Amino acid sequence: MSLPHSPWSEAGGDFAIGLRPIPEAAWLEGGEADPAARKDPLMAAHPAIVWGETPGSREAQAEALTLVEAVRGAQAGEAGLPPLLAAARRVSDDLCLMELRDGVWRLTALSLCAPSFFTAQAAQGKSLAELHAPVDGFEPRFGGRLERIFSGLRAGLILERRNWTVVNSDALFTPDSAPIRAQISQISPIEAGQVLHLRVERQTLRRLPATGGALFTIRIWRAPLETLDQDPERLAAFARAWRGATAEFRNYKGFASYDMLVEGFLRARGESYSVNEV
Ligand code: HEM
Repeated sequence: MSLPHSPWSEAGGDFAIGLRPIPEAAWLEGGEADPAARKDPLMAAHPAIVWGETPGSREAQAEALTLVEAVRGAQAGEAGLPPLLAAARRVSDDLCLMELRDGVWRLTALSLCAPSFFTAQAAQGKSLAELHAPVDGFEPRFGGRLERIFSGLRAGLILERRNWTVVNSDALFTPDSAPIRAQISQISPIEAGQVLHLRVERQTLRRLPATGGALFTIRIWRAPLETLDQDPERLAAFARAWRGATAEFRNYKGFASYDMLVEGFLRARGESYSVNEV
């Protein structure tokens, strides 16, 4: 399957805020018949990894559920579940609730069934600055802007951003990078196109007008690197983004350990130009 998004084509290989408004009809991307069938077993097996809520968040959770029900319709039989968890069972996306607490935007509840190397337990209650502390250079570049975006978000406006990385796994549920990275040395160059995957996060942000909170959604898309063969322009853009990625971006995403495999993949497809020619 090819990816519905190719963020490397626009943002290249650098961190970016990259938010753009989208119509309400485009808010949540579907395509998964029964998200609850995937999420319920994860909740049973790893509750602390995939779910977290803080005291006082239920009212905003209920507002988030109302927004989801407006799109997906109401569902019986979920009485007793925390409202954000009920909402998350209806959608493919992971749902993160942000609320102002003593003047600081904090993650007050989340359902996180497709984590990209973090857990609900570790993230819940954190401020935007704390959440982004592992991202090299984030705070001085983006910290203030991000706070202003959350505080100034207009009701009815829906914003979307995408990011991308390369990872040697096709799993959606990846709370920990260590077991995945431990496999890299065993990948043979010939299988790089199948084993390495493009992992794209498509995120949206919207205000919860009644409670003043903000709902952040995360949808993961992934496809083997070799799907780039279907689209020469995407392949060329990927080669440019990979080779032109900033040191901070490469370092944060651990690209050095994939360099030989990705370069071999690109050269086998005639993508042999150097960064200087891009
Ligand atoms: C719309 C507002 C936001 C923007 C512009 C933003 C931006 C970013 C950027 C640039 C990165 C680095 C990876 C990348 O995307 O290229 C990142 C990583 C991350 N963001 Fe955000 N972010 C936003 C909202 C949030 C929210 C609400 C959460 C709450 C769950 C969050 C949690 C994270 C986490 C956990 C990481 C990975 C940090 C790690 O490696 O541990 N972000 N974000």
